[in-house]
Amino acid sequence: MCGIVGYIGNKEAFPIIINGLKRLEYRGYDSAGIALVQNGIVQYKKQGKVADLEQFSCTKNTSGSIGIGHTRWATHGEPNDVNAHPHTSMHGKFTIIHNGIIENYSSLCRQLAERGAYKCASETDTEILANLIEYVYEKEHVSAEKAVRIALSQVEGAYGLLVLCADEPDKIIAARNGSPLVIGVGNGEYFLASDATPIVEYTNRIIYLNDKEIAVISKHELSLKTLFNDTLTPIIQELDLDIECIEKAGFDHFMQKEIFEQPKSITDTFRGRASKNPPEIYLGGLYNVMDKLDKADRIIVVACGTSWHAGLVGEYAIEELARIPVEVEYASEFRYRNPIIRANDVVIAISQSGETADTLAAVRLAKNAGATVIGVCNVVGSSITRETDAGVYTHAGPEIGVASTKAFTAQVTVLTMMALFLGKRRKELATERYEELITELYNVPALIEEILLDNEKYLHVARLYKDAPNSIYLGRGILFPVALEGALKMKEISYIHAEGYPAAEMKHGPIALIDENMPVIIIATKDKSYDKVVSNIQEVKARKGKVIAVVSKGDTVIAQLADHVFEVPECDSFIAPLTTVVPLQLLSYHVAVLRACNVDQPRNLAKSVTVE
Ligand code: G6P
Repeated sequence: MCGIVGYIGNKEAFPIIINGLKRLEYRGYDSAGIALVQNGIVQYKKQGKVADLEQFSCTKNTSGSIGIGHTRWATHGEPNDVNAHPHTSMHGKFTIIHNGIIENYSSLCRQLAERGAYKCASETDTEILANLIEYVYEKEHVSAEKAVRIALSQVEGAYGLLVLCADEPDKIIAARNGSPLVIGVGNGEYFLASDATPIVEYTNRIIYLNDKEIAVISKHELSLKTLFNDTLTPIIQELDLDIECIEKAGFDHFMQKEIFEQPKSITDTFRGRASKNPPEIYLGGLYNVMDKLDKADRIIVVACGTSWHAGLVGEYAIEELARIPVEVEYASEFRYRNPIIRANDVVIAISQSGETADTLAAVRLAKNAGATVIGVCNVVGSSITRETDAGVYTHAGPEIGVASTKAFTAQVTVLTMMALFLGKRRKELATERYEELITELYNVPALIEEILLDNEKYLHVARLYKDAPNSIYLGRGILFPVALEGALKMKEISYIHAEGYPAAEMKHGPIALIDENMPVIIIATKDKSYDKVVSNIQEVKARKGKVIAVVSKGDTVIAQLADHVFEVPECDSFIAPLTTVVPLQLLSYHVAVLRACNVDQPRNLAKSVTVE
């Protein structure tokens, strides 16, 4: 949420920062701005995309080898030129960009107003912080770094912050509490960003800033401290990320690329963890918490958005295959409702980004309550991975499209492996069944390749229903979360109202919505509820609803009943979430493209939600 980029070195900062902001645009894209150290600090800001800022700045002086830039996802104040970052303090000494929320900003604002004639030009919490730093700097006659430290000691809330000081123009000050910041170490140059994607093309040497740390960076030097002024030794880590992974590689959109990457991302996720001969699961990331997992009375999954849907799939799989009770919680609810957490609970936090504020807070709460916490994250080195006791990475590669696709299937792959692994350890799963499911899991990439071949069909159906204002998604059992995920994909990128429901629940409300204009997307592959789902389809047809059914290949029964069928190869029901979701992803993708929506950056959304 909000993307931050900074550069200090010998190159021109402007193109590096603009390029970096474009890579981070998935974090926020309602306005953007840049500040450059020239003869003094200049700044250019614009409502809209980074490309609008680039266009706006192209006739201006963009020289300078030190600069900071920001792409915004508005929290305080509407998206416009004034509220765009950077923000400069009233007397012009400090220019800052900020990701996060200053929670006590109104009391800080009041205090500043009482102490002097501090007035803010924007409606943002960030400007207050710029003014507070300047106030401390002028009143206490301290260095810029100390002023930042003192000011931040008065701040409640989350921040990833870059600061320029007009009196000390040869440095960038960076600080973090709750919102991610990484520093790329080059030769006589440093790169700063909210995540590593803007940095990877320049260096693979990375320092992750931790909470309550501050870095003061000049061209040749980086000093790292805590906010309490204790000196730290920076730890440089090597980043394993290819530039190709963050390019569109010939696809029109990142989302499309990421959908088509799923055979590879799933293979990468089970590589080294699932062997085919003999069929076996190894989850090395869990070994140091194995005794806790063996004793666990209950698993609590905490997550948000699509990750929460993956958690629901995990609930069905773990309960059935390993017979461990599982509860799946929205992290935002869990963290505030004083949940009962016992020492024998294992909490699994699922998060693509590893930075979602609510999920991170849920992790901290569970840890403080004595539970063992496992992370299922995609971004290596992200906050959740660093705060959990153990974890299993989803090796989906960078996911740039705001609507999550390959991260979902990678998460489901990990959770299915966990269910199998635990089922075997707890002797709840017969060897034959265990081996059969591993073999099926191994086949998934090939099955998805086959499903992707039907792309034209999804496009055809998308053309027919692109103007429908509403849609209903139905599924049963382990495919109910897939219905939720299908509906989420549709609403988030195409702005068509979509509801996901357990198919049998349709009779308790949604059926009232069905008429000849209502598309009902039903996941109806062959499993133990098949006959019941066929009845649900008949109920929809009896009310003249339009049925789009995801069916097992060769199903002639539903082909007679439904208006359209998307065939997927037959597989075990525990594997089916991984296959059946793909036609739904592509249906939403095509509908959104046909409606001329911004597929990769849907309105009002951000990929990484680092505020509550
Ligand atoms: C945002 C994204 C979703 C994502 C959710 C949770 O809402 O737009 O795609 O599912 O956050 O993110 P996480 O990184 O924790 O999986």
